[in-house]
Amino acid sequence: MSGWRVWTASPADSELLAALEAQAFAARSWGAKSIMASFQASGVAVLLGGENDEAPRGFALWRDLGEDAELLTIGVVPEARRRGLGASLLNAVLERAKTAGAEKVYLEVADENPAALALYTGAGFSTIGARKSYYRDGGDAAVMVCSL
Ligand SMILES: CC(C)(COP(=O)(O)OP(=O)(O)OC[C@H]1O[C@@H](n2cnc3c(N)ncnc32)[C@H](O)[C@@H]1OP(=O)(O)O)[C@@H](O)C(=O)NCCC(=O)NCCS
Repeated sequence: MSGWRVWTASPADSELLAALEAQAFAARSWGAKSIMASFQASGVAVLLGGENDEAPRGFALWRDLGEDAELLTIGVVPEARRRGLGASLLNAVLERAKTAGAEKVYLEVADENPAALALYTGAGFSTIGARKSYYRDGGDAAVMVCSL
């Protein structure tokens, strides 16, 4: 589906963002407090995506680091997956990071997350390293980068 809209969230959306993140991540949720604190974090932008402003179905958080940018997290609620929203959110992050002057976007992804790995590879990311026991439950992460 190509009818997705992506827009910048405001602090008034923090509870909505926390609910979306909890639905998308289940066991690996950051938790409401951490995710809501993103609105205060330096250089962090929060994007929401859905068919319209009233019904966001996914989100992406990224950080502008100057020459580089970092995708902090991205998620789509289970019932809206495989319809292009994740790719729309990711493309919006890449476009915004490029506009902000970044040359590269970095991310960490669980190395046993085939959906995310396929999403990132399809958008032009490649694996440049690994972080052992990166997650609280002991899982390993791959480090990926995309040149803009
Ligand atoms: C990863 C995630 C954001 C993808 O969102 P989505 O809206 O379903 O993704 P899209 O429909 O835009 O898919 C884009 C491409 O990603 C890949 N992809 C997405 N889901 C996939 C899956 N379950 N299996 C394999 N490839 C998948 C495909 O290449 C897909 O293109 P295609 O549909 O043309 O084959 C979603 O599965 C999610 O929220 N997962 C839980 C949270 C998470 O793991 N986030 C990433 C953490 S680093």
